[in-house]
Amino acid sequence: MIANCPIKTAKFNYDSIFEARIEELKREGRYRYFLDVNKSAQHFPKFFYADQRGDKKSAINWCSNDYLCMSVHEEVISKLSYAAHRSGAGSSGTRNISGTTNFHRELENTLAELHEKESALLFNGAYLANLTAISTLGKILPNCAILSDERNHASIIEGVKASGCEKFVFHHNDLGHLQQILAQVEISRPKIIVFESVYSMNGNISPIAEIVKLAKQYNALTYIDEVHAVGLYGERGAGLASTLAVKDQVDVINGTLAKGYGVIGGYIAAKQSIIDTVRSFGSGFIFTTSLPPAVCSAANRSIQILMTDKTIRPRYWEKVLEFRAFLNENGIKFLPNHSHITSVPIGDSQRCKKISDRLLKEFEIYIQPINYPTVQRGEECLRITLTMRHETRDMFYLAKSLKTVLNESA
Ligand SMILES: Cc1ncc(COP(=O)(O)O)c(C=O)c1O
Repeated sequence: MIANCPIKTAKFNYDSIFEARIEELKREGRYRYFLDVNKSAQHFPKFFYADQRGDKKSAINWCSNDYLCMSVHEEVISKLSYAAHRSGAGSSGTRNISGTTNFHRELENTLAELHEKESALLFNGAYLANLTAISTLGKILPNCAILSDERNHASIIEGVKASGCEKFVFHHNDLGHLQQILAQVEISRPKIIVFESVYSMNGNISPIAEIVKLAKQYNALTYIDEVHAVGLYGERGAGLASTLAVKDQVDVINGTLAKGYGVIGGYIAAKQSIIDTVRSFGSGFIFTTSLPPAVCSAANRSIQILMTDKTIRPRYWEKVLEFRAFLNENGIKFLPNHSHITSVPIGDSQRCKKISDRLLKEFEIYIQPINYPTVQRGEECLRITLTMRHETRDMFYLAKSLKTVLNESA
């Protein structure tokens, strides 16, 4: 028999804690309302949705990361469908326990070849790849110090936390500050510099060659997140590091199969000893069911297409320039950068949400507002992503509509 609880104090009110936190988000205009996008491979970037009254509506998606439209590429879809019929819907096992198929192996070989590294390792997403690889390497290297750019993605921040290592945060893309920190850490101590090639929200590109040079000088490893660069940059889509003379000296490359490649999954590519270490000790790799074989097959095809078709990237860059010219013509200020990501600063979460709502309701334009903690407070923005299927008329219409809404909300 269970004895009556002798404690007479008031019971803890769980609901009040959760509700208060959610209320706070709503008050600040940071509550995340999802739009149920009824995606159409045929009509992308146009999609369909039901508004609050249940009425059927359509809009143009301006915030998808399917930059090159590989998620709707016929050959990629065919591979997915063919391999699913051949191998089933899922792998039903961790990599170690029956979850490694020939599709996983082939994809890892392709990734190693793409990045000209000895080996590659697949994860269920690049978030998990960052979290697992950074924490594992940080735990294995004795007394390791991790130097991390202040604008690094949440998955990197979580990886650094989970490593238990001493962390040094350097100012965004600031080589002087990075060097200052490097000089403070004993040269004999293991160090990892973690940074991104294209920062996802402001679109800034990092000084990769200079960071690698500093790393060599101070005997540090380099770990680069190329999530927003793979597929889009480089002769074969291998990312920004691949365009540089120092490409062989970048120790670990992290990438996704979900954005430029349009499917799902993440990976790291590095020398065999690093890959084998993460494969053997990384909890987020070992203890989870592997990607479905069909997904691997589709991602492999997507990479192969972007490795061999040299016409896609130049056509995409032409579009980026054309789009930015329309924004300039309409006086719309966006953050200056040399990447494909166009961020229009708003600087206030409530206003950001209002603008986004109005664009959707009145102009059939979908741009999700970007608020804290995805960006720092005061840096709320509209992050606009162009895809291969956006036409000149779409760009023109977006620029005109943005001009109207921004002016009226000033
Ligand atoms: C810079 C960066 N790294 C990692 C990730 C995680 O990638 P994935 O969606 O494959 O988990 C993202 C995704 O948004 C990202 O922007």
